[in-house]
Amino acid sequence: MDEGKSNTQQKPPAKNLTEVVIAIKGLKKTFGEKAVLKGINLELKRSENVVVLGRSGVGKSVAIQCIVGLLKPDGGSLKVFGDEVAGMTDGELKKLRIKTGFLFQGGALYDSMTVRENLEFPLTRVLKLKDQREIDKRVEDALDSVGLLEAIDKLPSDLSGGMRKRAGLARTIIVNPEIILYDEPTTGLDPITSREISYLILRIQKKYKTSSIIITHDMECARIAADRILIMDDGEFIAEGSFKGLHKSKNKIVEAFFKDVL
Ligand SMILES: Nc1ncnc2c1ncn2[C@@H]1O[C@H](COP(=O)(O)OP(=O)(O)O)[C@@H](O)[C@H]1O
Ligand SMILES: [Mg+2]
Repeated sequence: MDEGKSNTQQKPPAKNLTEVVIAIKGLKKTFGEKAVLKGINLELKRSENVVVLGRSGVGKSVAIQCIVGLLKPDGGSLKVFGDEVAGMTDGELKKLRIKTGFLFQGGALYDSMTVRENLEFPLTRVLKLKDQREIDKRVEDALDSVGLLEAIDKLPSDLSGGMRKRAGLARTIIVNPEIILYDEPTTGLDPITSREISYLILRIQKKYKTSSIIITHDMECARIAADRILIMDDGEFIAEGSFKGLHKSKNKIVEAFFKDVL
């Protein structure tokens, strides 16, 4: 009996791993005449990594922006931690944004600030921390988690693409989010650095028990980081499964993703 993996026998304060943290039902988003999201359904569980694979322009970023509240959906239901996002007050939305980290494509670092200052920013501005010793410790711990401690006093312009991603990821995890949403975390990186970032995403999930939606068209990232994969095409999810399971699919769109995978 593997007690370590049992969900039901864990003692508090272990988190309930069957809890649904994001529940999306029939989510729709239209721009003018164009229906970009045609009613998507997704359940993300506690400590689960879901990868959404899709070609360019199918609506992946629109979906993730609806989830973080940067775009307002036109229909359907979006619940985070059981609460409907559409009905939230500004105060509730603010709290939700702290629990939901978002790693933007470019890492979105402030160019004029050092890595340390970039990481202090959410601690002082969002969490309103004042104790410099605590701030220093959290900055160092977050950088250590992404293997970037030696770059603490560098400017983003002095970092490689992979290091900028790590710094962006450190800034995302520093507020202890329960959910992390990744939009194309490996795009623009060379294959080796992409793998490193994919393994880092996996390591962060295991270490912090975060739940993540990872949007990508990088098959290696999906293979490494996904507990479950959803394939998006033209505003809808058309297939779902494990990497191995989908690899055997006879669906033409799914096959196209796996054609170069051995
Ligand atoms: N703010 C917007 N206004 C109008 N159209 C948009 C907007 N954002 C995205 N779209 C359109 O929605 C479609 C899906 O875009 P997106 O979600 O960015 O695709 P991807 O899957 O590559 O991330 C595209 O046709 C895009 O032009
Ligand atoms: Mg996109």
